[in-house]
Order: sequence, then structure tokens, then C-alpha cells
Amino acid sequence: MEVKLRILRYNPETDSKPHYEVYAIEAEENDQILDLLNRVKWYQDGTLSYRRSCAHGVCGSDAVRINGVNRLACKVLVKDVGRKVTVEPLLGLRVIKDLIVDMEPFFDHYKSVIPYFVNDEPAPARERLQSPEERARFDDTTKCILCAACTTSCPSFWASGEYVGPAAVVQAHRFIYDSRDRAGAERLELLNDRVGVWRCHDIYNCTNACPREIEVTKAVGEVKLAIATGRIE
Ligand code: SF4
Ligand code: FES
Repeated sequence: MEVKLRILRYNPETDSKPHYEVYAIEAEENDQILDLLNRVKWYQDGTLSYRRSCAHGVCGSDAVRINGVNRLACKVLVKDVGRKVTVEPLLGLRVIKDLIVDMEPFFDHYKSVIPYFVNDEPAPARERLQSPEERARFDDTTKCILCAACTTSCPSFWASGEYVGPAAVVQAHRFIYDSRDRAGAERLELLNDRVGVWRCHDIYNCTNACPREIEVTKAVGEVKLAIATGRIE
């Protein structure tokens, strides 16, 4: 079948503003949208710029807007979206070129929540033990691949890029609820801030956008509750 692929293009060296270009592509119904982008780049217009790596929903590098919804281009098939497909860069981050956005502000927020394991107690002889129940407590948020689909679908983030955003809260949640970690209170203090979790108004765009099906809004709610009660449970 022929698919009409409409892509929002922008070259900062030649364009004053973004514009759409339409490409006709031969496709199978099980082709990924990433396959279509590759076909444009490899056979029609080598100047098209976008990020991709694994092509299997693991690296998180190809998050874009597909027909107005944040998705990974490698996880959406032609049969999911039909013969007219519009691909645009994520909202809320500066476009560098075509579908490539500046991820630095996103990763600055990520880095701000201490997204790593902290425990200064003497190391045990073998390992820091954890029960299956304790491990299960943060199972959902440990699935995050940092694709930014959640944060860039959030109206609070669109309103102000200062908001730390749901992805950073998910990363904080993953360590706050790890029974072996000792920096939970510090992370909660960081997130109990003017630009922290209270900017979340439970709109659920983040949960709907997450390609890993993480319950993002629930995780943000649990962090809010921990701040409000002073208890990490
Ligand atoms: Fe992507 Fe989901 Fe992680 Fe957000 S929580 S960055 S949508 S994987
Ligand atoms: Fe790695 Fe899509 S290319 S998640």
C-alpha cells in the first residue's frame, strides 16, 4: 500500500520556521513508522534528521509525535495509524533540526533528582539483601527508558520547562522506594519544590504516552503522598 507520510521539517540554517513535507512511501501494514522514516532518509531525502538506535522499543531515542500523540516511532505500525501519518517533533523542547529536539533540559531535570543508588553504610560481605516484596515495590518505575514521551506530553511542562516533569519523578520514585537506598528523604525534599511534583495536576497525558506502560501518574501521586505524610511506604 502507499502511505502518505507528512513530516514537520526544520533546518535552522535555511528555514525561518518549520514546514511540512509529504512523502509517498510503499509500505506493508506491519512496517514500523521508523521503517518509513528510514525509507525517506535512505531513498528520498538524506537530509531528514531524527534519532533512532535499537528499533525495538528499548533505547528510547525515537520518541516523536505521531498523528498528534507521543509515541516511539519503532513501536507504532502502519496498521495502527492508517495511510495518512503525520510525524512531528516532541513539544516543549527546542527543535534542533527536523525531528531532533534538544534533550539537555530533560536530562538536567533527570540529573536533579539524584537518579542513582545511594547507600554509604559499610558494604556487606556479599550483597545488600532485598525481599521479593521489597523489589516489587519499585518494579514499575524501574522500566523507564528515559524517552521523554511523558514529560513532553504534559501541559504543566509545556507551560514551564522549569517543572521537573514526570520522567524525573519516575526516576526518583524508582530509588525512593528501593529499600536499600538511603537518599529517599533528600529526593522528597528536592521534589517538594516550586518546580517539583506539585506542578502535576493529574492530567494523565504522561500515563497515556508512556511506551513502557508505566503508571506514571500513580508514581507521581505516591511521591506527593510521601512528601505530605513524611512516610515512604
Ligand atoms: Fe518514557 Fe515512560 Fe520513562 Fe516517561 S516514564 S521517560 S514515557 S519510559
Ligand atoms: Fe530504540 Fe525506538 S529506536 S526505542
